[in-house]
Amino acid sequence: MSEDVAPELMRPATWRDIPAMLAVERAAFPDEPWDEAGLWAELASRPRRAYVVAAREGHDGLDGYAGLDVAGDVADVMTLAVHPRSRGRGLGALLLGRLHELARDAGATSVLLEVRSGNEVARRLYAARGYELVRTRERYYRSGEDALVLRKELDA
Ligand SMILES: CC(C)(COP(=O)(O)OP(=O)(O)OC[C@H]1O[C@@H](n2cnc3c(N)ncnc32)[C@H](O)[C@@H]1OP(=O)(O)O)[C@@H](O)C(=O)NCCC(=O)NCCS
Repeated sequence: MSEDVAPELMRPATWRDIPAMLAVERAAFPDEPWDEAGLWAELASRPRRAYVVAAREGHDGLDGYAGLDVAGDVADVMTLAVHPRSRGRGLGALLLGRLHELARDAGATSVLLEVRSGNEVARRLYAARGYELVRTRERYYRSGEDALVLRKELDA
């Protein structure tokens, strides 16, 4: 991971962040981005949902964001996205680490997520952070790609 991670600001998302979150979303998931209504619905579902945004110093807009569903002893990563201009600097790992903290604070003991089988970068990130394969959902995506369900046990 690069050392160039210091000057970013991570904070809870607010309604005002939605346009900038959408810009990150469209750049990160060009094929199937969430739309504005989807993001409004996610933020409307707080506090069960927890969203965090990251902005690097001197950049307009946002550089990444991530969301968690926290209910009971299992939390779900809803999304994790870093703008292409800001990748490879540790931001994705920072956001994921923040979700783990939020999950722990909410009393969760494990975190689940789904990732496309062909998403090598994300798979490497999750494997390095202790995620293990739970099961494969075959041809889960419209493209015919499999979804991998991964789980991480949170330390006490
Ligand atoms: C996946 C994603 C969030 C990673 O964000 P990022 O800020 O670039 O990630 P980081 O710089 O924190 O790197 C974290 C890890 O990802 C992996 N990684 C990052 N860039 C990589 C690259 N170009 N090639 C291979 N692995 C890479 C590495 O394992 C890295 O850990 P390391 O630096 O300790 O080796 C980002 O690529 C993204 O937004 N992708 C599109 C959306 C997406 O796929 N989201 C996940 C959906 S489940």
